Amino acid sequence: SLAGLDLRAEIDRLRKERNAVILAHYYQKPEIQDIADFVGDSLELSRKAAETDADVIAFCGVRFMAETAKILSPQKTVILPDMDAGCSLEDSCPPDKFKAFRAAHPDHIALTYINCSAEVKALSDIIVTSSSAEKILSQIPPEQKIIFGPDKHLGGYLSRKFGREMLLWPGVCIVHEAFSETELLKLKAQHPDAPVAAHPECPPHVLDHADMVGSTSAILEFAKTTPHDTVIVATEPHIIHQMEKAVPEKTFIGAPGADGNCNCNICPYMALNTMEKLYIALRDLEPKIELDEEMRLAAKKSLDRMLEMAS
Ligand code: 13P
Ligand code: SF4
Repeated sequence: SLAGLDLRAEIDRLRKERNAVILAHYYQKPEIQDIADFVGDSLELSRKAAETDADVIAFCGVRFMAETAKILSPQKTVILPDMDAGCSLEDSCPPDKFKAFRAAHPDHIALTYINCSAEVKALSDIIVTSSSAEKILSQIPPEQKIIFGPDKHLGGYLSRKFGREMLLWPGVCIVHEAFSETELLKLKAQHPDAPVAAHPECPPHVLDHADMVGSTSAILEFAKTTPHDTVIVATEPHIIHQMEKAVPEKTFIGAPGADGNCNCNICPYMALNTMEKLYIALRDLEPKIELDEEMRLAAKKSLDRMLEMAS
């Protein structure tokens, strides 16, 4: 049993013993963010995974992120505290259906959100994250036809912003889909001066009320630098931990779901990782990511294009 163990100290000891780096996404529990060597958005975490000289990457995020780390750093052991940490966007896009969709539109390239399986990355031309999508899309010639998947809201946001039609895969993030426009308007009425910062995975009826739209890192930067002392945050609420650490004098309010609070917007997949499971993963070097080499190389092509085009 783990009872009585000082998990923080044990994780620290194992991290040194294993020459491991702990990477965490902003949607992880505060105690995991606090013990990580690096906390970031999807693009930053991919870059860290590609650059690290550690032998082990302990990825505190969801499976597609840990797979990305393995695709970019195949010689490293990549562990994920809970292998069931998936993503609704990944689930919405089975590789065989995506392959058929591509085959039905042979004159289109596939610009694909990083929130998908390694198999779907292998079937794609260029990967994007929310922080790199605009820069990458602006480099694609206007006459080039595009399939964008699996997030229809990020795709729709990009389409509107660039005035550019794209064929959208119908996936959504269940977390951002759960924000309520009615409750958001009530909250705005109570805090008329507070800007709304929203992630582009939000549906258009939420983005319509946003003062700023961006990736988790961009939202965090906005929260730190805006002159307003209260900010409404329309993304997974665990990111508020970093905001409160950076600017404790400001007030950050998670955008509400239909029940009027932000608890229904906690990502259930991200929440599967715990300090206990991180400790066990570092101790046993399990569960670890393993990928078919041919598929990994195909997926690496589309990820490398992202890293080049985003730099
Ligand atoms: P970013 O951190 O890249 O903005 O991604 C958000 C997200 O939903 C990850 O699952
Ligand atoms: Fe997937 Fe949404 Fe959870 Fe991110 S927040 S891992 S997009 S379900």
